Amino acid sequence: MFGFGAMIDKLKRNPKRIVLTEGTDPRILEAASRLLASNFLKPVLLGNEEKILKAAEDAGYNIRGAEIIEPKKYEKLDEMAHEFYELRKSKGVTLEKAQTTMLEYNYFGTMLVKMGFADCLLGGATYSTADTVRPALQIIKTKPGNSIVSSCFILVRPSATGENEVLAMADCAININPSEDELVEICGETVNCAKLFGVDPKVAFLSYSTLHSGHGESVDKMRNAAEKARAAYPDIPIEGELQFDTAVSPRVARQKAPDSTVAGYANTFIFPDINAGNIGYKIAQRVGNFEAYGPILLGLNAQVNDLSRGCNGTEVYSMAIITAALV
Ligand SMILES: CC(C)(COP(=O)(O)OP(=O)(O)OC[C@H]1O[C@@H](n2cnc3c(N)ncnc32)[C@H](O)[C@@H]1OP(=O)(O)O)[C@@H](O)C(=O)NCCC(=O)NCCS
Repeated sequence: MFGFGAMIDKLKRNPKRIVLTEGTDPRILEAASRLLASNFLKPVLLGNEEKILKAAEDAGYNIRGAEIIEPKKYEKLDEMAHEFYELRKSKGVTLEKAQTTMLEYNYFGTMLVKMGFADCLLGGATYSTADTVRPALQIIKTKPGNSIVSSCFILVRPSATGENEVLAMADCAININPSEDELVEICGETVNCAKLFGVDPKVAFLSYSTLHSGHGESVDKMRNAAEKARAAYPDIPIEGELQFDTAVSPRVARQKAPDSTVAGYANTFIFPDINAGNIGYKIAQRVGNFEAYGPILLGLNAQVNDLSRGCNGTEVYSMAIITAALV
């Protein structure tokens, strides 16, 4: 069952520092004030100290004790610019360019994590996903053994019995049109992430077709990817291609996929592309009353996560805990 208790306990045993790149945003300040009132996760706010303190006062949040870093005044700025230059010179970055790039909060914050000055980063309350994720792709990079960075959402719907319904969906935020092999990798990463949230994964590779009922390139892609994923992860129940109703409705599954052990009971969904994934998780969130946590980035060498620009302070607080607990 999903809950924040276990994550908070883990952080209490080993407190972390999380960079929040948008230090003057009221939602970030709300989350920072809640984190400061606890003792398990230390926020590092980026921005001008005077402006941050004024914004906090205006919004009514107590951020006393917060660590505030303004990139241009940071004593290690030069060291960071040199390190960034070394990392990116093969891509045509000059030292001068590295010095100006280090003044951009998303790049500066990501370098703090890269150089071990902070444990993880959460941004994107005002930046687009691409602007939050690109520095991580360029600086933090894909972890050994992975070929891509991807993402998943964890969707949680409280039920009257107290047993939360928890689903995982991927990739709803990063890879625009993943290949078969990329879908297999996305499946493996998502399964691992889903388990951390208490899900016993049953994976559906989604399509507009159920087991050959329809035809098309994307149908073949999902069927082939499901087959490759079954071979790659023989211990995980995986089915595909499946329509969403067959994946979640036992009644429909009995009719359309009677021999499948996953159909009707799937809880981990792999979408064919970002259009389907992004629209799909937002339908669950906005119409299906699920709380959505994510995108949780998968396959990076360090934890950097992105916020939806439509997020509220509670979501920032929750994502900060998730991000640090995954370190
Ligand atoms: C993730 C995304 C931003 C990367 O695109 P981009 O910035 O144009 O990336 P580029 O092609 O310029 O590549 C930048 C670097 O990231 C790397 N990269 C790009 N996508 C990657 C991926 N999925 N995994 C790992 N590395 C990746 C590239 O190899 C490149 O590295 P290098 O500079 O060291 O060679 C892009 O795929 C995107 O916009 N995705 C959709 C985001 C979105 O709008 N989501 C919906 C809202 S949640």
